[in-house]
Amino acid sequence: MILNENVDRKIIPVAGGKGGVGKSVIAANLALSMSMFGKKTILVDLDLGGSNLHTLLGIRNINPGIGNYVSGRNYSVNELICPTDWENLYFIPGDVLVYGIGELTKSVKARIVKGLLDIDADYIIVDLGGGTNFTVVDFFLISNSGLIVTTPQTTSIMNAYSFLKNYVFRFLQRAFATDREITAYLKKVLKERRPGGRKTVTDMITDIIGIDPVAGEKAEAFLEVLQPKLILNMIHGIEDVSLAEGLRDLCSQNLSINLECLGTVMNDEMVNRSINSQRPFILDNEDGIATEEIHRISQKIIQSSNFPEMPLELDYYADSFELAQIEMENDLAALQGVEEESPESEGYDIDKLLELIRIQQSKIQELQSTLKMLSING
Ligand SMILES: Nc1ncnc2c1ncn2[C@@H]1O[C@H](COP(=O)(O)OP(=O)(O)OP(=O)(O)O)[C@@H](O)[C@H]1O
Ligand SMILES: [Mg+2]
Repeated sequence: MILNENVDRKIIPVAGGKGGVGKSVIAANLALSMSMFGKKTILVDLDLGGSNLHTLLGIRNINPGIGNYVSGRNYSVNELICPTDWENLYFIPGDVLVYGIGELTKSVKARIVKGLLDIDADYIIVDLGGGTNFTVVDFFLISNSGLIVTTPQTTSIMNAYSFLKNYVFRFLQRAFATDREITAYLKKVLKERRPGGRKTVTDMITDIIGIDPVAGEKAEAFLEVLQPKLILNMIHGIEDVSLAEGLRDLCSQNLSINLECLGTVMNDEMVNRSINSQRPFILDNEDGIATEEIHRISQKIIQSSNFPEMPLELDYYADSFELAQIEMENDLAALQGVEEESPESEGYDIDKLLELIRIQQSKIQELQSTLKMLSING
């Protein structure tokens, strides 16, 4: 079950369904930003088999981590916490020092979760691996404050959707673990392999109400607890936010969950450069848009006294996605302002305008094909 609902210490797992979408970069920079705002933050590398978070922080892999913790009984999680070069930021390495820790059994996973809950901090940011399997999903279910990172690419959005589908299903499985009738029903759904035979969560809820109306009501109430937040990474323009809105609509129609957008992060070459220099990018690009976006996301989390609930001022915008769009418009306007001020500015350029229109048209085509794919795969 969800363990971290309404507790002061916040565990925030970061997942995405797909590899290479920026989960680790965002986890590292977000954690650093939160520590800069005075919050004691622990960054945990839980991408077992692919741990690389230490390199993003420029830390050598000489310290024991989660791999040592699960392969022997000699460590407590608190002993794994390493200080970093930055005040308030601490780090727990993954499994770089250990060869193949093998399959994570239920008891090993439970030990890791218990270890994380024993840590004393304001925020614990947990970097997870790619993929949509139940192991990653189980770690994501440590709390109801998880972040989903996706890029605007069709495959990335589709994988984020698959991840969320498995997440909701797994949540229901665990919520009804002691109810034999509902467990048997969910097992049957899981076994269904016929193309087009898979039920949506919305269908499942209807079925559960049919089996046992009280359980059905409970399931509906449970789902309201799930409040995953989306971070749209490597975006190029406003139109990318529309893609994420497609994902939001699908989640509400098929998964009965309300997906909110926590913010966007622009595609920026300096992020790539920061990987090579092994330093979080928010340090060397204080005025960059991506830096501001990371600080904004961290502020949204810190300022929400009951995260993952977000205080949205719905008088000014319809929902968190519209807010993300407004924020981005402002960012782009600020960027344009800077460009116009620069002495090399060439003013109005018809070739540039045509190029922009061409890019926008291809974006719209991509958007249409993504929305089509999402509705086929619902
Ligand atoms: N906003 C961005 N702008 C430009 N490049 C980015 C941005 N975010 C991430 N990247 C690049 O994407 C690559 C992958 O990032 P990262 O390692 O954080 O992904 P990941 O989702 O953690 O991958 P994995 O699943 O393999 O752990 C990095 O090389 C990084 O430089
Ligand atoms: Mg990663």
